[in-house]
Amino acid sequence: MTAATDQTPVNAAPSPSDAGRVIIFDTTLRDGEQSPGASMNLEEKLRIARVLEEMGVDVIEAGFPIASNGDFEAVREIGKVVRNSVIAGLSRANRRDIDRAAEALQFAERKRIHTFISTSPLHMKYKLQMEPEKVLQAVWDSVTHARNHVEDVEWSAEDGSRTEHDFLCRCVETAIKAGATTINIPDTVGYGVPEEYGALFTMLINRVPNADKAIFSVHCHNDLGLAVANSLAGVTAGARQIECTINGLGERAGNAALEEIVMALRTRADALPYTTGIQTEQIMTASRLVSAVTGFVVQPNKAIVGKNAFAHESGIHQDGMLKNAQTYEIMTPESVGLNRSTLVMGKHSGRAAFRAKLKDLGYALGDNAIEETFVRFKDLADKKKDVFDEDIIALVDDSIGST
Ligand code: KIV
Ligand code: ZN
Repeated sequence: MTAATDQTPVNAAPSPSDAGRVIIFDTTLRDGEQSPGASMNLEEKLRIARVLEEMGVDVIEAGFPIASNGDFEAVREIGKVVRNSVIAGLSRANRRDIDRAAEALQFAERKRIHTFISTSPLHMKYKLQMEPEKVLQAVWDSVTHARNHVEDVEWSAEDGSRTEHDFLCRCVETAIKAGATTINIPDTVGYGVPEEYGALFTMLINRVPNADKAIFSVHCHNDLGLAVANSLAGVTAGARQIECTINGLGERAGNAALEEIVMALRTRADALPYTTGIQTEQIMTASRLVSAVTGFVVQPNKAIVGKNAFAHESGIHQDGMLKNAQTYEIMTPESVGLNRSTLVMGKHSGRAAFRAKLKDLGYALGDNAIEETFVRFKDLADKKKDVFDEDIIALVDDSIGST
């Protein structure tokens, strides 16, 4: 094995001097689509890719070209229309996959081949049925072959978080020597916990020779609900690329959710001093599009993009919101592309919100009328799960009519 010549990272990082800038690698169209029932057609993938580019995603993983003709076509067509984001195509560690990925990427302005192989004892023994030395050779061969096609090569250690450390170091060292510019350590089965996953990056960055020649990347699955926390732990430990999906779409419990990661970095810049190039105001557009295209409904209490993420029902919270939104909101609805928060009228709502709602609906009632309607509203709210504007209008009209 001999070393590749040019080892400069060539991915989307804006400026090497901006040490806190994190690359956002969106894999909605690849890992996200692997979610059972989430298949998308070409036109849908193109729409999503355009929105991702528009919102400032650095790298769009557009598909796995060897997997099907549809995936090949999607990578090729997205490569034709997207000009700003890097387009990545996935391949296993063999020449056929890599050549197919390179062919699919032929029209892309900025292209990346993403090649992977399993490195954990469990995967090597049962899935690959390969000895570790053979896997190491495959790392070398696949990365050098990919580098013959493109300058931007990402190498991933599948099941990296369950890989024995000495062996993982040898694999990463080999991949960097062979010319990989991004090193991704997936938590493929969502087994990691934040401290341990972060420590894995600290260990690799400290131990692997020439670790500074590549950008380290996190790729976390959500089987224990820790994908975002693990991703952020990896970044704190030195990773500078985050792989994620819109709405956390992905196999089993999904991948780390792009919107949660980006908003955590934006909202808690004091504790997490890292930036992204994402226009967060486009988050709702992307979320709604992915949900509509896949038919995967976003749970109402989902962070950032759930229907209730900026909705308040309890009287105490609504009163606080009317006085100062920061009492119960840590980010503004506008910052994720919503017009405003909603004060949901229900049995927990108080007089302050009721008054505000009446004003909103164009009513100017006296105190007595408000009080009387409020009592009737509470009765109704006890019987009815959702009290709509129409219900309140009917109550007021009824009150006015009876006086
Ligand atoms: O979860 C995983 O290990 C992957 C790799 C193919 C990058 O998706
Ligand atoms: Zn994955």
